[in-house]
Amino acid sequence: MSQASTLYKLNDNVVGSFSKLKKIAITSGKGGVGKTNVVVNLGVALSRQQLKVAVLDADYGLGNIDILLGIEPDKDISDLLKDTATLEEILISKNELLIIPASSGVQSLSNLSEYQEILLYKELKKLEHMAELLIIDTAAGISDNVISLLMAADEVYLVVTPENTSIVDAYAVVKVVTELDAFKKFSIIANMVEDEEEASEVFLKISRAVKKFLNKELNYLGYIRKDEHLIEAIKFQEPVVEKFPESPCGSDYLKLSKNVIDRVAKMDVGKEKKSRLDF
Ligand SMILES: Nc1ncnc2c1ncn2[C@@H]1O[C@H](COP(=O)(O)OP(=O)(O)OP(=O)(O)O)[C@@H](O)[C@H]1O
Ligand SMILES: [Mg+2]
Repeated sequence: MSQASTLYKLNDNVVGSFSKLKKIAITSGKGGVGKTNVVVNLGVALSRQQLKVAVLDADYGLGNIDILLGIEPDKDISDLLKDTATLEEILISKNELLIIPASSGVQSLSNLSEYQEILLYKELKKLEHMAELLIIDTAAGISDNVISLLMAADEVYLVVTPENTSIVDAYAVVKVVTELDAFKKFSIIANMVEDEEEASEVFLKISRAVKKFLNKELNYLGYIRKDEHLIEAIKFQEPVVEKFPESPCGSDYLKLSKNVIDRVAKMDVGKEKKSRLDF
């Protein structure tokens, strides 16, 4: 089986097959650009606006969401895969978010046995009754594990900073995913920018390249300024939207969340998938 069809199989069988739940993956080409902070702060801002949000920590590197929110999960997704815990047993509710924790050393989701696929599918399907939106925090780059999560998501939000390497690597993500699914929708979030003008430049750089070489349009979701308040909030293990809601990046996150609400409302979920699935 080719890599592409293996990924489609995963998409159909595991994370991709929830007809009601809307799924967004937050990703980037380059690491350390602010994905996990976007997942947490956007998630909290959306929850405050009455959207039921679940967050899947699918970055199996060192602690991420748990560190940012000051939680210490004793069970995680690896327990689902070993059939030693149910979804309810690993879910953590914090800051109005439902969090599905990962841990370092958790096996890649692109390399599951058939039995594990069924287990994960059976457990994650319960999310349909608990949340309206699932935000998936991925690792950076174009490893099979990341790409399979992007294939499973209804839309992909790419976090890009003004650094050239961040823009070039983000382009690579769009290219690889577009080769597997020409219709996948991408949105850009410009992070760590000085101002709106710099954010527009970031968006123009990547959207021009994507238009020229891949003939694809990108959506611009908004920007978050580079702001010391975010680093300060991390020290308190609190989301900046709660700790410093009036700060520049606190207010940018709120603005961004309003754009996301509008976009999520218009999302058509699993149209193509439904025709291939029984439910
Ligand atoms: N808007 C911002 N203003 C200032 N600093 C920021 C901002 N966003 C992110 N950072 C800095 O970038 C660091 C990395 O952020 P984060 O962990 O969210 O990135 P990531 O893309 O998830 O990283 P990884 O690729 O390792 O998962 C933060 O600890 C913080 O220091
Ligand atoms: Mg991260």
